[in-house]
Amino acid sequence: MKVLAFNGSPKANGNTFHALQLVGKELETAGIEFEIVHVGNQIIRGCLACGGCGRNQNEQCVIPNDIINECLQKAKEADGILLGSPVHYSGVPGTMKSFLDRLFYVSTSNGNLFRHKVGAAIVADRREGGISTLNELNHFLTYSEMMIPTSNYWNIIYGTTPGEVEQDEEGKQIMRVLGKNMAYLLKVMDAAKGIVTAPEKEDKVYTHFVR
Ligand SMILES: Cc1cc2nc3c(=O)[nH]c(=O)nc-3n(C[C@H](O)[C@H](O)[C@H](O)COP(=O)(O)O)c2cc1C
Repeated sequence: MKVLAFNGSPKANGNTFHALQLVGKELETAGIEFEIVHVGNQIIRGCLACGGCGRNQNEQCVIPNDIINECLQKAKEADGILLGSPVHYSGVPGTMKSFLDRLFYVSTSNGNLFRHKVGAAIVADRREGGISTLNELNHFLTYSEMMIPTSNYWNIIYGTTPGEVEQDEEGKQIMRVLGKNMAYLLKVMDAAKGIVTAPEKEDKVYTHFVR
């Protein structure tokens, strides 16, 4: 089994990376493969809302020359997805937001490729805005019918300079416990294959507030 993590920080070895590694170490100890893809240093434009991914049904975003389509196939093959982000102005940094908007829009427009995968999110911040950023990340997971493991607090770790999160003992425990629970959920879901029948997928009902 494999968990694919996306690091939304512009820094390759910053606090988000350290936090992802803490989760990943527990996954690896439990025998689960772990890989981090660095997203935050890329040039990724926002979704054009053109609907091309839904019309073409080829599991591809029509915007060329960035990592979205490659990452989509990698994520499709993984059993679990871990989203990691620093907090910028109490939210997800722009590059990561563009990445997630497009990755998850292509996925849900092409039959919901991440449905019933295990998904979790973590954030690193200096002081404030962790919860709103964590909520933002969780919106992608919950829209996609993903299975979400929890920890013993909300998945936030504190630090400013790269690596400073290593001094946040409670934050480190939150990441460790999340990693253990994520591994456990992955194994439970794997063991249930062929024994417990997954619920049938319902076609999405789209309504809005004027009709
Ligand atoms: C543009 C920018 C905006 C930030 N906004 C916030 C913020 O709203 N709240 C906060 O606590 N930290 C904020 N920070 C600090 C980072 O979230 C913090 O240093 C974090 O640990 C960085 O993680 P990284 O090393 O993985 O990039 C901001 C940093 C930058 C560069």
